[in-house]
Amino acid sequence: MGVINIPVYVHVVYSNSVENISSAQVNSQISVLNADFRKTNNDANQLPSEFDNAITDSEIEFTLAGTFRYASSNTSWGTNDAVKSAYPPITPETHLNIWVCSIGGGILGYAQFPGGNSSTDGVVIGTQYFGSTGYVAAPFDKGRTGTHEVGHYLNLRHIWGDGRCRQDDFVADTPSSDGPNYGCPSYPTVNCKSNDMTMNYMDYTNDTCMYMFSDGQRNRMRAIFAPGGSRAALAGN
Ligand code: ARG
Ligand code: ZN
Ligand code: CA
Repeated sequence: MGVINIPVYVHVVYSNSVENISSAQVNSQISVLNADFRKTNNDANQLPSEFDNAITDSEIEFTLAGTFRYASSNTSWGTNDAVKSAYPPITPETHLNIWVCSIGGGILGYAQFPGGNSSTDGVVIGTQYFGSTGYVAAPFDKGRTGTHEVGHYLNLRHIWGDGRCRQDDFVADTPSSDGPNYGCPSYPTVNCKSNDMTMNYMDYTNDTCMYMFSDGQRNRMRAIFAPGGSRAALAGN
């Protein structure tokens, strides 16, 4: 299994002209996904040497297959999949669907893990946290919400396992942690008697302070593309 290419449909749902983001903003998110999943992101050079062996090229790429735009009077969509019922996914078996809309409640984005209902499959990202140019808001203005949510969509858990030290993320090379890190933590940040991988895309740090997937995460993502895997059709298998 070499480089995997995932075709992407982007659904832009807007209630005013500012939310009807430019195609440059849409393209910037695709570029960030490609850089981050191929380890060509130019901030990876900050990595503490402790994690040199863990950082990896996931060999997953993304191609924009279409952008769809919908005007709506709804100004906030929440996290209950309402935006997906209003504007259903297009061929979710073979395409990653991304809805860009105002979610509200300070939520940056949410994703569906593999194996769920196809009618709600995909990723939702708040308009101001989508891409790295245009109508974006610091400190979540570098497109890393997209990287994080697509990580979930490809089966990755948060690195702290959504629990305390013994709660696993099912990835061996992400050190155990007892909760999310926020902002831009200094190195080392010690929890559970090891240094947290705060710069992992699956932590909760600021966009400029996350810049890696680990080899174990790569393997966990790629397993779902194997024949019989939950997203095999997405990779043409
Ligand atoms: N809180 C969201 C989630 O768990 C997204 C976090 C994204 N973080 C970021 N720095 N963009 O799905
Ligand atoms: Zn998350
Ligand atoms: Ca781990």
